Amino acid sequence: MNVLNVSLDERSYPIFIGCSLRNSADSLMSYIKGDQVLVVSNETIAPLYLENLLKNIDVAKLDTLVLPDGEQYKTMETLNTIFDALLAERHDRSTTLIALGGGVVGDITGFAAACYQRGVNFIQIPTTLLAQVDSSVGGKTAVNHILGKNMIGAFHQPQCVLIDISTLQSLPEREYRAGLAEVIKYGLITDLEFFVWLEKNMSRLLTREDDAVLYAVEHSCRLKAHVVSTDERESGLRAILNLGHTFGHAIETHKGYGKWLHGEAVAAGMCMASDLSKRLGWISDADHERVIALIAKAGLPTAPPEMTTEQFLTLMAVDKKALGGQVRLVLLERLGQAVVSADYGEKLLAATLSPS
Ligand code: NAD
Ligand code: GLY
Repeated sequence: MNVLNVSLDERSYPIFIGCSLRNSADSLMSYIKGDQVLVVSNETIAPLYLENLLKNIDVAKLDTLVLPDGEQYKTMETLNTIFDALLAERHDRSTTLIALGGGVVGDITGFAAACYQRGVNFIQIPTTLLAQVDSSVGGKTAVNHILGKNMIGAFHQPQCVLIDISTLQSLPEREYRAGLAEVIKYGLITDLEFFVWLEKNMSRLLTREDDAVLYAVEHSCRLKAHVVSTDERESGLRAILNLGHTFGHAIETHKGYGKWLHGEAVAAGMCMASDLSKRLGWISDADHERVIALIAKAGLPTAPPEMTTEQFLTLMAVDKKALGGQVRLVLLERLGQAVVSADYGEKLLAATLSPS
């Protein structure tokens, strides 16, 4: 088992990564502080992995809650069902919430942990590629609002993250590919060498070869841990993790949550960010083509669905990076280096939103 660290003073925590964490009872139990646990999962993941997980937890009070599956359930209503379960079962402040699932279960359980009795401990056990390389690390928790994605949430760091890449074997192909979008993101924003590795190893990743997946997950977590340790609350550097997300969130909100997967929307959004960076003269045509080629090779969309410029602009205006009405975008200064900028000009943005 490999261990990485997210360094955040007293909120620091380890990320355990392995090909099989079936016997991870010791690691898990040392991060459960009280004698109460609520494991939150969903109706798809619970039949696959819940029973095995429960065998590793030895506490006086062990409860489970199985949520409906889907981004459309990442809502205040579902959040309330977690509070209902905690209160009905009399969980106190010493309880630990464990999220067993993808980014939806992780985000909503983390937010419940942030709010319940003003904050309780939680542990992330991510089971999708996207959650293993991104959402389980860094403490962003949230639910969606009908008017905007992830608009209601909190920063709340977990006690630890337990990543078992063998769980990816049961992940549907479309979901797996959606996770690759976030992996590609790391190469684009901060690590050209990793981008080149991905160009060379995408076929091995697509066939889910253990050593390639392990390397990609571990490297992505290392990059994310570094960014989060530098800027936990996104006052600067962390915003680069949102490459493609401003366009992507607009796509997700426009299409209706769950229609385009988050990773698919981010993939198209990264192509749009790359296109705008090319129009600004920051990256070359050839580099832009490399971005498109890698995203296409991962089987991901390289263009947005049919949407008007106005629809994009309206939805982009509610982006969390907007400051004083000005939408800031994550763009590429060069391959392997992202920058947050409001300095792109309306005309060039319009050309990206509506290419002729
Ligand atoms: P998801 O949680 O909806 O999971 C995708 C699907 O795969 C679901 O149907 C799920 O039940 C199923 N599944 C999960 N693990 C499985 C497994 N091992 N085998 C078979 N099926 C499995 O989606 P996701 O892509 O994991 O996460 C997307 C969410 O993450 C979005 O809501 C997005 O906003 C959020 N997100 C959050 C952050 C953050 O920093 N907090 C970062 C990126 C994305
Ligand atoms: N996924 C964006 C972040 O964690 O900041």
